[in-house]
Amino acid sequence: MNKIEDIDNHNLPSHLAIIMDGNGRWAKQKGRLRVFGHENGVKTVRSTVENCVKIGIEYLTLYTFSTENWNRPKYEVETLMRLLVSSLKKELATFNKNNIRLNTIGNIAALPEKAHNELLDVMEKTRENTGMTLTLALSYGSREEITSAVKAIAIKVKNNIISPEIIDETIINTHLYTHNLPDVDLLIRTSGEHRISNFLLWQIAYAELYFIDVFWPDFEEHHLVEAIKNYQNRERRFGKTSEQLT
Ligand code: IPE
Ligand code: IPE
Ligand code: MG
Repeated sequence: MNKIEDIDNHNLPSHLAIIMDGNGRWAKQKGRLRVFGHENGVKTVRSTVENCVKIGIEYLTLYTFSTENWNRPKYEVETLMRLLVSSLKKELATFNKNNIRLNTIGNIAALPEKAHNELLDVMEKTRENTGMTLTLALSYGSREEITSAVKAIAIKVKNNIISPEIIDETIINTHLYTHNLPDVDLLIRTSGEHRISNFLLWQIAYAELYFIDVFWPDFEEHHLVEAIKNYQNRERRFGKTSEQLT
């Protein structure tokens, strides 16, 4: 089985993003409630974060709760928010021990006050850490992100702060939630679904996509290592020819 030590650390994805999917089906398969899947999904978050630190990933972004997930049953949404608060409380010490800086993307003001405050607190308490940046996408939707960027830029144009001619990709980037993150290099989605579900549409323009038919609570170190090794065997051409790269 693949181990972290097997990874060539010269060609690592700088920014790894993960769509952590399949908690509900994992629980259903076991005859349990969906929230049992989420509880076990938290354990996978913990091990994956630690493994990414060991591997030397600089930016890890986890799709934790989408704008569309608000439409789930009230009990499930409440459980997810409760798990978020309890995990943050528990993990603060580990973040500091591992030099992890916590960051968020999404409309976090839409979260329940307790979750919002806990996030702000942990972000503040890990602000000076210089190791991996762990970004949680919470109440995040890529279309919502792009819409608010367009709105903010339009207001600046209207108020003569910028002229429309200078709007370029860099200006758009600086108005996204991800303004402080590089583009995604590798995007993993668990659970066997082959879709993006409104995640980082702009930022994955040239990401390598990796889909794995394993539910999130069953995603282990060797799956992560396999995904990274697979990434390392790909040729990222960015529109050029293969010959131009050598
Ligand atoms: C991912 O697992 C967790 C969240 C979206 C919050 P799901 O809850 O989507 O599980 P499935 O896809 O229904 O199995
Ligand atoms: C995407 O998973 C959102 C998260 C993992 C947080 P979903 O389970 O919500 O996606 P769809 O609805 O199956 O596309
Ligand atoms: Mg799902």
